[in-house]
Amino acid sequence: MSKYLIAGNWKMNTNLDEAKIITDGLHSFINYDSEVEMLICPPYTHLGFLSEIVDLSRISLGAQNVHYEESGAFTGEISNDMLLSVGCEYVIIGHSERRTLFCETDVNINKKVVNSLKAGLRVILCIGETLEERESGLTNSVLKEQLNIGLAGVVDTINLKIAYEPIWAIGTGRTASTDQITETHGFIAEFLKNRFGANTIKILYGGSMNSDNAKEILSILNVNGGLIGGASLKSESFLAIYNSALELC
Ligand code: PGA
Repeated sequence: MSKYLIAGNWKMNTNLDEAKIITDGLHSFINYDSEVEMLICPPYTHLGFLSEIVDLSRISLGAQNVHYEESGAFTGEISNDMLLSVGCEYVIIGHSERRTLFCETDVNINKKVVNSLKAGLRVILCIGETLEERESGLTNSVLKEQLNIGLAGVVDTINLKIAYEPIWAIGTGRTASTDQITETHGFIAEFLKNRFGANTIKILYGGSMNSDNAKEILSILNVNGGLIGGASLKSESFLAIYNSALELC
């Protein structure tokens, strides 16, 4: 099992040419090490193409969302089976942008988590609080509710990862402090231990992680990787974050 997972969430960015520029940059890197797993999550439209040209032995491919039904009249949606059929190994579920902009609820997110795990995908379940919730002292109760509902019915955790992404740190250039990350990741690790017994589930941090702050964040107890948005859109900055993880191995 790798020590860290460094995951890039490209969101709704890049056309195919731009995607290829990023992956060409990633391929030029020679220090890949199995201690640090690299994952990129491009838009759906790129997955089939990228699975043909990306060296999947070094870079894993993931999607940013999925629908929980297997197939049927769900215009515009994508199923687990479709993702698997284009070489996708991971799926991000419950990103805060999905929750806030597309009204995804914990109950819907839970259906996705359960069905994607059943289908054999690796799941990154995202959780996180708003600034208002943090300032009102509600962080732990919000996270607990997201975890309780989001993980209902989950038994086998071998393919499960959690990403803690404080909403106020996403795309804002503002990261949570070392103390905040230590405390919150500790809380999540404790929750997972109580819920599943011995806890080997990776907990990623996400929210304005970049090449300058990655090493410090990744060295915090119970931080097992990063979910990176903006800084994953340039191979140089993404590889610098990857290297920070490598240096800590
Ligand atoms: P950011 O995004 O790194 O641009 O803050 C992280 C995310 O939303 O996953």
